Amino acid sequence: MNPDVLFEVTKEHLDTGLRGFPVGYCPTSYVDPQKGLFYCGKSIVELAYQEPKEVIYLLYKGKMGAPTEIATFIQDLKRRSNLSREVALAIHTLPRKSHPMELFPIALILLGTFEKTGDYREDCLNLIAKLPALAACVINHHAGWGETRDSNSDLGWVENFIELLNIPNKNPQALLPVFKLFSILHLDHGGGNLSTFVGKAVASGLEDLFGSIASAMCALAGPRHGRANQDCLEFVQIVLKEVGEKASVSDVEALIRRRLEKKQLVFGFGHAVLRVEDPRATLQYDFLQKHYPHHPLVKIVLALRTAGPKVLSENPKISNPYPNVDAVSGTLLTVAGFPYPEYYTLLFGLARCVGIAIQIMSDRLEARGGKGTPIVRPKYLYKARGTS
Ligand code: MLT
Repeated sequence: MNPDVLFEVTKEHLDTGLRGFPVGYCPTSYVDPQKGLFYCGKSIVELAYQEPKEVIYLLYKGKMGAPTEIATFIQDLKRRSNLSREVALAIHTLPRKSHPMELFPIALILLGTFEKTGDYREDCLNLIAKLPALAACVINHHAGWGETRDSNSDLGWVENFIELLNIPNKNPQALLPVFKLFSILHLDHGGGNLSTFVGKAVASGLEDLFGSIASAMCALAGPRHGRANQDCLEFVQIVLKEVGEKASVSDVEALIRRRLEKKQLVFGFGHAVLRVEDPRATLQYDFLQKHYPHHPLVKIVLALRTAGPKVLSENPKISNPYPNVDAVSGTLLTVAGFPYPEYYTLLFGLARCVGIAIQIMSDRLEARGGKGTPIVRPKYLYKARGTS
């Protein structure tokens, strides 16, 4: 085959969600089916315990920074980090009965309404800087935890977020390592995941950064995408309730078989690209085994890790029976003192907005020798309804 041919489209590929179609270049990250996620060429395993500011710098600049370069970058973000009073007040008028992932895109639009410059680079930096305050404000309002204080510019990106969240009985020491790990694992995931693709597509029509990111977060909100982390924790809790914390792997295996027989869903397995256990899941399992091995949810999540692939791999139609990032992240957040599943997708979004914003900035200002990518405009073939 001609080496310039990357992918051959046949009729079989139509209506399959563009699965695997190469559509462009991603300057920040890629996902290898066997090795998992890489940020700017560096494996997520290598980066997982770096400081979030170092990883954000890497994604923004495309290279690791010297300490002085990172310090200058972070100083700039800190200068931009406060959320204006108008934005906070507007967020506090939103209906609290909505899911937080309905409020978050609105909050992003509001941020754009009051604070956008119209310059993708400036708006990208402003967004990254203000995300912790914006997300904390949405959560504090939705949860009824009161007003959000001004950002503390002496603190790091994750530290500031924890400081601004008015969680009852907060234990920052337990939350910090978990929120740092969770954030680094979710910052970016190539260009083809649904939320990133949607954000880039909307920006290709020259919608501003905030509107584009808000669309991306609507895409993330669906249960097949970011909302899966909330659903997975609820699944782990159901399993725990049904089999108890002393359950063996065989008990959990039997439960999975019963669910499959009843055509009930088994959450947390499989991925569009990966063909191994998601290294982002492996990192979280390792953390839990080290720090919380006796917690009942951890025992169940570890039993599911073994039993799930065993049962699912018996089905030849399942190309990846292994745990994905969502299988375990809700358990991690719960045991660290954040037992609020409704906010898990928002935490995913808080981190992922960073990668998407950087990708949009690059698409608009740097791609194709600075011309930017053209408007996204794929083609659909006509087929009358009811015909096969
Ligand atoms: C993600 O992190 O965005 C998910 O793993 C989904 C995907 O990559 O398609």
